[in-house]
Amino acid sequence: AEQLQTLTLARPDDWHHHLRDGAALATTVPFAARTYGRAICMPNLVPPVTTAALAVAYKERIMKHVPKGSSFEPLMTLYLTDSTSPQDIKDAKASGVVVACKLYPKGATTNSHGGVSDIKKIWKTLDAMEECGLLLLVHGEATGSVDVFERERSFLESTFKPLVLSRPGLRIVLEHCTTAEAAAFVQSGPPNVCASVTPQHLLFNRNHMLAGGIKPHLYCMPILKAEEDRAFLVKAVTAPGQKKFFLGTDSAPHEVGNKHSACGCAGVFSAHASLEFYAEVFEDAGCLERLEAFSSQNGADFYGFARNTETVVLKRETWTPPAAYPFAGGRLVPLRAGETIRWKLQE
Ligand code: NCD
Ligand code: DOR
Ligand code: ZN
Ligand code: ZN
Repeated sequence: AEQLQTLTLARPDDWHHHLRDGAALATTVPFAARTYGRAICMPNLVPPVTTAALAVAYKERIMKHVPKGSSFEPLMTLYLTDSTSPQDIKDAKASGVVVACKLYPKGATTNSHGGVSDIKKIWKTLDAMEECGLLLLVHGEATGSVDVFERERSFLESTFKPLVLSRPGLRIVLEHCTTAEAAAFVQSGPPNVCASVTPQHLLFNRNHMLAGGIKPHLYCMPILKAEEDRAFLVKAVTAPGQKKFFLGTDSAPHEVGNKHSACGCAGVFSAHASLEFYAEVFEDAGCLERLEAFSSQNGADFYGFARNTETVVLKRETWTPPAAYPFAGGRLVPLRAGETIRWKLQE
């Protein structure tokens, strides 16, 4: 069959993105704005974005770096703690910039030590979110002594399924879904649950990260899983007519010194080519025509936003990302640095 040379899509949105703060914004915001109409901005700054006032101020810092002519809109999130109150939620809604709250189980990942220790402690806060129409975004991993490869499956059974089933009026996103079990639950789950999926969990399994030498730039949380999980995720996101899964890159930059370390940070930076990576996934699955639902429709529909009317064009064109980009006075190694990518977003 003749190969498609260009693909035009409604401009996608990224429903999970770490822009960081300070000097990092000069790198991260232009990369995000080049591809995405909107991005859900993760709140795990130091200190975390726990109030409406902090979210408003963070959005202002981001907006200073949006390139001229771009209509990029950062969508802000609140970082939930044991002491987030129903009033904090009402204030967040009233700010007009916050659209969701992020639940990090305490200790699950980067800057999550201030996270929620027990979901029962924030039950009334969840009531307020439901009333205000704010979504709950969940880093779905158990913590503590649970095996690092089993943390999502463990959290799914212990916490996530009961949460979703007991709160039908609260829209809940399982962020960065990585296992067949979690994807299967979301797939056949009730209407109040959806999931985002990253490019790295669709392209790589744990052998890519650990066999034949350790690859720190594939290390993220949730950690890459087995090939069976990766294959299941690809089937789930590329299924005809699926509405449950949408794009969320979890692009999470760390300066190279913090990755190449005896105790390296978790996070994959993919914003230089994330849509291009997803295009490879859908092409390899033989259904490029289904990329648009995943990248530009399902997320907006679930969040209750209008779909973007602008379009972007992907061209079949091989290119190679550099070994590193400048980043906050240091260097940032992008996903697939020095390797060929088959698609390129037309600028
Ligand atoms: C990051 C940043 O620049 O914001 N810092 C870093 O990598 N030196 C924050 C982070 O990695 O969490
Ligand atoms: O790998 C990760 N990095 N997973 C997360 O959940 C957080 C992120 C980060 O902020 O670096
Ligand atoms: Zn997370
Ligand atoms: Zn994340």
